[in-house]
Amino acid sequence: MKKTILLLLFCSIMIPISAQKTFEQKADSIIALMTLDEKTGQLNMVTGNWEATGPVLRGSDDKVKLLKEGKIGSMLNIRGTKHTRDMQAQALSSRLGIPLLFGLDVIHGYRTVFPIPLAISSSFDPEAIILASRVAARESVVSGIHWTFSPMIDVSRDPRWGRVMEGPGEDTYWASIMAKAMVEGYQQPFDDGLELMACAKHFAAYGAAIGGRDYNTVDISMQTLHNVYLPPFKAAADSGIASFMCAFNEINGVPASGNKYLYDILYNTWGYKGLVVSDWGSIGEMVVHGYSKDRETAAQQAIEAGVTIDMESNCYSRYLKQLVEEGKVSEQTLDNEVRKVLVQKYKLGLFDDPYRYCNPEKEANEILTPANREAARDVARKSIILLKNEGLLPVEMPKKIAVIGPYAGAKRDMDGNWTVATDKDVAVTLLEALKTRYPGSEISFAKGFDSKENNDRSGFEEAITIAGKADIVLLTLGEHWGMSGEARSRGDIHLPGVQEELACKIYETNKNTITLVMGGRPMIFNQVSEKAPAILYTWWLGTEAGNAMLDVICGEYNPSARVPMSFPKHLGQIPVYYNRKNSGRPSVDAEGNYSNRYIDIDYKPRYPFAYGLSYTSFEYKDITVSKDNDRILIKLNLTNTGDYDGKELVQVYVRKLWGESTRPIKELKACENIFLKKGENKEIEMSIPCSGLRYYGQNGWEDGKGDYKIFVGRNAEEMIFDTEIPVY
Ligand code: NOJ
Repeated sequence: MKKTILLLLFCSIMIPISAQKTFEQKADSIIALMTLDEKTGQLNMVTGNWEATGPVLRGSDDKVKLLKEGKIGSMLNIRGTKHTRDMQAQALSSRLGIPLLFGLDVIHGYRTVFPIPLAISSSFDPEAIILASRVAARESVVSGIHWTFSPMIDVSRDPRWGRVMEGPGEDTYWASIMAKAMVEGYQQPFDDGLELMACAKHFAAYGAAIGGRDYNTVDISMQTLHNVYLPPFKAAADSGIASFMCAFNEINGVPASGNKYLYDILYNTWGYKGLVVSDWGSIGEMVVHGYSKDRETAAQQAIEAGVTIDMESNCYSRYLKQLVEEGKVSEQTLDNEVRKVLVQKYKLGLFDDPYRYCNPEKEANEILTPANREAARDVARKSIILLKNEGLLPVEMPKKIAVIGPYAGAKRDMDGNWTVATDKDVAVTLLEALKTRYPGSEISFAKGFDSKENNDRSGFEEAITIAGKADIVLLTLGEHWGMSGEARSRGDIHLPGVQEELACKIYETNKNTITLVMGGRPMIFNQVSEKAPAILYTWWLGTEAGNAMLDVICGEYNPSARVPMSFPKHLGQIPVYYNRKNSGRPSVDAEGNYSNRYIDIDYKPRYPFAYGLSYTSFEYKDITVSKDNDRILIKLNLTNTGDYDGKELVQVYVRKLWGESTRPIKELKACENIFLKKGENKEIEMSIPCSGLRYYGQNGWEDGKGDYKIFVGRNAEEMIFDTEIPVY
């Protein structure tokens, strides 16, 4: 039978170009040869487990047998040319010899680790995002990987949710730009024909889990679903992304893995042509949700909704054949999903050469290269946010440097969570970077506190002593790598343990203290915010973390990143996000009665969305706003008035003043990162297409026509300019 496929392929090569078969037609020629078992096999994705010695298959004899029978169509968690080749060989020995797809969570780099996605989002720099995705894509495809389960484009307004680290933050417009940039970086084919499939996840509204508890219920209005959570997914679909992944959550009573409403939007409204993979076990979990009667029904509901591949719940492999035989699921429905898988395999060139991603020479030469590390360093420094600076930064490194805090020397904490392929000893720590760059300095180090033993003060004395003797102190605070990520929601997002207590003592001891906060989410640290002379929020920066931090500290790079999610001042403020509605009684600064606020805490965030400082300053002049056919045009003159070259994120927000449905007090609709040399001046033109003002209201999509206020701001709270303009 394998000969039959080869014959079919050969014939398709011999047909003149105009009559050449499409991938869909080629897929159909194969589908015509397939048994029901083989078809359901293509929709079955299983994991290989990774252990110190390499990948192992759980219940491995069984899985090898299934591979040989053509009952597995794709695998995750197998990586490396050798191991993927071994597994591929098993699949090729099946009756039809259909090659496997290998997927992996390459979330922020493969072996060269880039900053976590939330950090890269802070760069507000599409080129940096493309670069990071490009390098990750190349390292993946030369390691046998065809498919990354990224980008994660779940907007989230709740920093307690552990998975904010994987996403774009709170803003829908920016998340959509980021989605597009990541798809471009991941999916563009390389010169040698290798290419990576990307995956938009988690469809949809996973970031709206009640209380920020991972996997929790989502109960939101249609307006919020359409205006806040869906647009980044539409951007990914419009960019030609190859796959989507279901979310674990239910939305308003229906789990995402069987949610026909969502897939109707995806396939029919947006015209998406790729495949959909479930999340791990999420089809089976529809029973636990209390939605599907049993796992067989779950399989039926998922495939009828349009979920192509079952990742690890075995509902498809166990029940689909029977469902078709009993006439409960039509064979055409099954074939439609099988076709999507085969088409992707064609696109990747796997039918031409199933081992084309398994070249050990490329793998040996193209991973963790100096160029890749340089890219990681570049993106890392663009991801560091300057939150505070009382004239201390940048510094010329003096002789005596005290480095305090366990994270300064902890390699694993440089990478952060969701690293699947990195060697744990590769990342450059701050301490290492300092020692390499300043061999002549006296560098002392004290842990000060323990990242795990949260209330241990036994290290305070040593830390205070070295701080007292130093010219400058670099104090590293934050979360350890396991504190943000999947299933890592935290109810209390203050800096853990006794860190703030130590920090205050260090500030009293040495005024020249630079604080670096590392972690996967916005945290609360009011005392540090108030007392520290200088704060850099570094997130988890990856392989080149230490070098990138030093680049910023020394002024080799002038910080340009901005806050991608509002940082709360108090736990009770959460969710705190800039694009809230006004209400009939908006929050006011004074502790007035009867306004939309708590009586005991401020309503404003500590650091608002898009906040971030620079070593230089910028002046905005001559701002004008006009309407030009189907666009709003914003013109302004920007001058770098300070002493350093630098970047300014010019932001334009809109507010629709009244209409069929209420709208947020501000919505970001355009932003651009402008680089100016010191003293340089530039005319800037930005535009907002009127189509971008559309809004999903109480009766569906509204065209957005109406009276608007347009703002230009330094961040979501600090406006420089506003004007009113009719848009009809
Ligand atoms: C579960 C996570 O939710 C998802 O993001 C990931 O891609 C899969 N596991 C596979 O590891």
